Amino acid sequence: MHPVHLRSAGTSLLLAFDSGEAEIVHWGADLGENLPDLAILRGPVPHSALDIPVTAGLLPQASSGWAGRPGLRGHRNADGGPGLDFSPALRVVAAQVQDGGRTVVIIHRDSEAGLEVSSELTLHPGGLLELAHTLTNSGTAEYQLDELATVLPVPRDATELLDLTGRWCRENHPQRHAVQQGTWVRTGRHGRTGHDSSLLVAAGTAGFANRTGQVWATHLGWSGNHEQYLDSLADGRRMLGAAELLGSAEVVLRPGGSYRTPSLYAAYSGRGLDGITEAFYHWFRARPQHVDTTSGRVRPVVLNTWEAVYFDHSLEPLLELAEAAAGLGVERFVLDDGWFRGRRHDHAGLGDWYVDEDLWPEGLTPLIDAVTGHGMEFGLWVEPEMVNEDSDLARAHPDWIGGPAGRLPERWRHQQVLDLVNPAAWQYIFDRLDALLSEYRISYLKWDQNRDLAEMGHAGRPSVHAQTQAVYRLLDELRKAHPGVEIESCSSGGARVDLGILERTDRIWASDCNDALERQTIQRWTGVVVPPELVGSHIGPTTSHTTARTHDLSFRAITAMFGHFGLEWDVRRLDDAERTELARAIALFKQYRPLLHSGRMVRADEPDPALRLHGVVSHDGGEALYALVSVATSFAEVPGKVCLPGLLPDTAYRVEAVYPAAEDRRAFLQAAPPAWLAGGVEASGLFLAESGLPMPVLNPEHGLLLAVRRTTAGAPAADPAANSAHPVRNP
Ligand code: DGJ
Repeated sequence: MHPVHLRSAGTSLLLAFDSGEAEIVHWGADLGENLPDLAILRGPVPHSALDIPVTAGLLPQASSGWAGRPGLRGHRNADGGPGLDFSPALRVVAAQVQDGGRTVVIIHRDSEAGLEVSSELTLHPGGLLELAHTLTNSGTAEYQLDELATVLPVPRDATELLDLTGRWCRENHPQRHAVQQGTWVRTGRHGRTGHDSSLLVAAGTAGFANRTGQVWATHLGWSGNHEQYLDSLADGRRMLGAAELLGSAEVVLRPGGSYRTPSLYAAYSGRGLDGITEAFYHWFRARPQHVDTTSGRVRPVVLNTWEAVYFDHSLEPLLELAEAAAGLGVERFVLDDGWFRGRRHDHAGLGDWYVDEDLWPEGLTPLIDAVTGHGMEFGLWVEPEMVNEDSDLARAHPDWIGGPAGRLPERWRHQQVLDLVNPAAWQYIFDRLDALLSEYRISYLKWDQNRDLAEMGHAGRPSVHAQTQAVYRLLDELRKAHPGVEIESCSSGGARVDLGILERTDRIWASDCNDALERQTIQRWTGVVVPPELVGSHIGPTTSHTTARTHDLSFRAITAMFGHFGLEWDVRRLDDAERTELARAIALFKQYRPLLHSGRMVRADEPDPALRLHGVVSHDGGEALYALVSVATSFAEVPGKVCLPGLLPDTAYRVEAVYPAAEDRRAFLQAAPPAWLAGGVEASGLFLAESGLPMPVLNPEHGLLLAVRRTTAGAPAADPAANSAHPVRNP
């Protein structure tokens, strides 16, 4: 069988079949067209080892000497007991390149064991690699699957590992260590993706950073239990892998039955993490369902009622809130938790998806009419997968609560999980949501999910796998029935952020924490994979409800702008200055929205840990918006020159500070600002990236927004200091 070489956007994926298995010879930098004879590139055989070179196949197997974590584990219960067919010898019987050279489908077979695996690898146009296997039981007895993993080899110069972890209100924080021998495993047993799940597992060359180093990164597109790992073997080989974590006998394949793994998404970059981000963003934005400026549908500015009124729902205050929001330039009004029967607090009501007649005697129509009358869309919060024991639903159908046989799992936020594997429960939820979407003019659902699926079971057997699929089907069917409705995936903030859920939703809620300082980190690392137009990001109250920190509006607004911008604040109670500044911030976001939601994300490797610099550069290099953010007090008296990377080197640009105003005494602590700050400066992309601009002294937990635009004039201004100085003010 001939080797298969897929190439895209600077990445090569080279597969050889000489060993009888599909072996990834190279996944990394583009190799060009001229390849050597791969058959003679097989490695040596060491002493005290198998007599053949060990193949690290696409499905690593003990049958070819692989002593690391195997690709497939399972067995058959036949001929008097379990354990049969425990060690597959899957060999390639066909490999076909499809889809104009983007995809290769490889068929592996072990006729003896009665197993067949079809592996599909696609190298998407932006360089993102997608890999999934489908296992079929071609035998005559049931086959119990324990694990089917998707793995990719990384070279031995990938010596550092980065993954993400977190908790409620602190999602997606990085952790990093040297790769050593052994297996580093990140396990998610939450029944949902999890606050601590690793959105990305990245191996890279020593010291890889935002814009330097080689990086190989993977993400598993699955919202249930899972494992992600780096397997580093004694022979020096390293595999990045991920698999659904199956419960006992969760997948038992009848003869002819099959199981498909979640897709593993992977990217290679020779220019640091920004290159990984670019591959993911390219893939997201190429999806037909993607909502962004290029598809002609902009992400509307949101007001969400949660931190404004919580469960305190009544028509008059909400009408006032809608009016105040519209006056500020809000475009979508989302009514959060508290509108349905019995829901005055979080102890009751989940499952009773009828508008509460006591709170809303005329239904939601008066509010929706007012909202749409103001020219805004209306959105509604739901949490369809959950049930309170104190609900009509649970009283009528106690058996619809998921769990082990004979008892209920422990409550979490006073709630249980509805067993959506039960067809009647699934249908009830579908019908209620369908009815609400049919009766009311609802453009958007905030779809929440607020607990782990601990001990999740259907009919007494583990069911996270089936429940996850049932949720996916619910979303898919609702989208089919109501194609215009957008859906947000929220899960106690960011506990369900993955490409499985994002295949059927239009944005994620990154965190319940609206504290801008926390959000700087949460959004930075969520954004390594998910583009800003899909990451809900709201300006919360002046003093954060989840950290009690107080931040200026400018810092909160600059932080929210690099996402799907919104408000979660009782804007009825603003003073005049706040109202004026907030309206300006919203207008500023709208001005830059087309750029922010379509451009290339860049992150400088800023040497001062107190400072961060990120930005979005348009694909033609014509404009950019950067945020310089101070996250702590600095060791340095002045920040020095900060580089603005990612622009076209030979092009002249004008850089202007747009927010906050240069004379804003809350944001800056300096006797005089740098000379260019008030009037802007012209410089080449090369100068800005390599030499940088002297920045003002930002107070900690403040930001500065810099707009950059290509000048029509030819030569860049040579001396930034030649620009007019700003009048000196003492703090
Ligand atoms: C958790 C979400 O993350 C919040 O934004 C809010 O919608 C509450 N649930 C409502 O119960």
